[in-house]
Amino acid sequence: MTSEYRYQQLEAWLQQGIKEQRWRLGERLPSIRTLCREHAVSKATAQHALQRLEAQGLVEARPKAGYFVALPPTAVKSPLRRSRIEAPRPVTVSDLLLDIMRRSAAFDLLPELRAGDLPPGIVALNRSIGRSLRRQRGDAYQYYDDPAGDFGLRQQLAMHLSRRGWAVEPDRLCITSGCQHALSLALMACCKRGDVVAVESPGFYGVMQLIEQLELQMVEIPTSSDTGLDIDALAEVLERWQVRACVVSPAFATPSGALMPDIARRRLLLLAEQYDLALIEDDIYADTSLGPIPDPLKALDVNDRVILCSSFSKSLSRDLRLGWISGARWHERILHLKLVTQLASSRYLQQGVAEFMEDGSFAAHLRRQRNELQERRDQLIALLHQWPCSVRVSIPQGGLAVWVELPDRVDTLSAYSEGLKQGIVLTPGTLFSASGQFKNCLRISFAHPWDKLRREALIRLGGLLMNSGQGRPE
Ligand SMILES: Cc1ncc(COP(=O)(O)O)c(C=O)c1O
Repeated sequence: MTSEYRYQQLEAWLQQGIKEQRWRLGERLPSIRTLCREHAVSKATAQHALQRLEAQGLVEARPKAGYFVALPPTAVKSPLRRSRIEAPRPVTVSDLLLDIMRRSAAFDLLPELRAGDLPPGIVALNRSIGRSLRRQRGDAYQYYDDPAGDFGLRQQLAMHLSRRGWAVEPDRLCITSGCQHALSLALMACCKRGDVVAVESPGFYGVMQLIEQLELQMVEIPTSSDTGLDIDALAEVLERWQVRACVVSPAFATPSGALMPDIARRRLLLLAEQYDLALIEDDIYADTSLGPIPDPLKALDVNDRVILCSSFSKSLSRDLRLGWISGARWHERILHLKLVTQLASSRYLQQGVAEFMEDGSFAAHLRRQRNELQERRDQLIALLHQWPCSVRVSIPQGGLAVWVELPDRVDTLSAYSEGLKQGIVLTPGTLFSASGQFKNCLRISFAHPWDKLRREALIRLGGLLMNSGQGRPE
């Protein structure tokens, strides 16, 4: 070793070990005590070396557990590429999205492969719903529920949200048919035809579909996989064009997986006040956090400008079709729109879910799921680094997918049809923008277990992408 100082020598030794995969992605490094003993260094020296590795993104410190390998040696530490700013315009969403949705595959590489056993959380949920169904009064089927939704469920949600730093009364919540429904109510409530809506780029295609259908205009704001929506870029856009609303996912934006830092949240709220903007917060991924569940942006909203939208689709079940919205200053209008668009939500489903939350089953489910997701995320990242080209991969601390950037010459869109021939459904990057960006990117989910067939499909996909366009291994 040529390094001068002891901490540098130790740092180089650890770097080498990670490179040679002596400790693999997600594995724990030797403890500080072991390093001190085996390398005859002081505790401060060992700590210094580990902190330097942490600063490089190679290891991750977990409180009371030690240091863990965070990145494979080939991973790139720079943030993924940002999108460019273009003038607001109407949106046309491609047929490709409808094709993917019809295959009910937006999240699974191998949608034909349905999972075997139900997770314990879903078994408990089904039991709660069954009990709730049997409890319904004989004539319940004759009546609609309160359009705002079941009070017991709203109470449970209010308690759940209060644990995330936002004290909300149940009557400020309205139950919806999923988060997509909540987002549509939010946009309908605060925008009129032709208004401009700012969205994350890359961002959620569901919002782009709504913008198209509501005949709004869209402006894409660059979003990084580290800190989310670029607040400077948003400020620039607000200065140039009149924007009515901004849809933002501070907790694990899709597809970037970014967690917006506190300072950016505060700046966003200031901009909203300055430019009279409605902020539509898509909070759907918060409960999938691999660490503590982040507070919603709404918790900082002193000016009543943040409409919070969410659902159980990512944390529990997509099939429930249950979500919620808190509409800030637009709440009354949102309640009316809920009535117009859905009349009411299913009473027995809501009451079943309320019981599932009340008896602690939801919290237990989230704890179990968190461990599984962390393992699946790490496995996926390790597998991606076996692809025959350089890849840049986001390392999200929540959400269900990673965002992958491939060399420019790769065309994920043309790989889509090739993939279908092999039963593989990929999610090309172009879906996450309406301006043709991110052709060389894709989103890959880690919501499903990496069993043998999915692992093989992922490796095949790597080869297939390399052959797409003019792609060749680097
Ligand atoms: C970011 C985001 N928001 C909203 C939704 C829609 O969720 P729901 O199934 O609750 O309608 C999705 C679904 O993929 C999503 O990824």
